Amino acid sequence: MLIPRNEIDAEVRTLAARITADYRDTNPLLIGALKGCFMFMADLVRCLEFPLEIEFVRLSSYGDGTESSGKVNLVQGLNVPVEGRHVLVVEDIVDTGLTVAFLLEYLKEQRPASLKCCTLLDKPARRQCEVCVDYIGLEVPDRFLVGYGLDCDERYRNLPDICYLEK
Ligand code: IMP
Ligand code: MG
Repeated sequence: MLIPRNEIDAEVRTLAARITADYRDTNPLLIGALKGCFMFMADLVRCLEFPLEIEFVRLSSYGDGTESSGKVNLVQGLNVPVEGRHVLVVEDIVDTGLTVAFLLEYLKEQRPASLKCCTLLDKPARRQCEVCVDYIGLEVPDRFLVGYGLDCDERYRNLPDICYLEK
């Protein structure tokens, strides 16, 4: 185990407090990147006590296994207008950065009023491109993580704690 559920909870509350301070009066559109974000999104929004909307996109970069293919695919895009909205991207983890960079570019083309990004986990050791992430939860080591939404070949998403796989 790397991060037990009580530490995840505390970090989610800290991020929520920062997001509340910035977005309370903006009716933001929170856009989660499936599937990994589903648990974080569910916990985060329950700490945000102001009007907001939630949408999801589905991206894939991982093939089967634990190495990013390096190529991001938009498996399911948005079908609500983003123009003029205050958009906050919600990610589980930023690893190479390719997924967030791709998603921010995709959304920017749709002319939101503002566009920021929040991630629960940050794995800076593996970054392949420069991305600006506005709200970062916990920095994690260069290990393949599972649990709390994160998977390995679709397994372990249901673990309540964040764990790493031993090689
Ligand atoms: P990136 O494009 O390399 O930054 O990776 C982004 C996506 O890959 C994340 O949203 C996760 O869904 C997945 N990912 C990255 N690192 C891990 C990991 O350690 N475990 C499970 N999934 C991961
Ligand atoms: Mg993800």
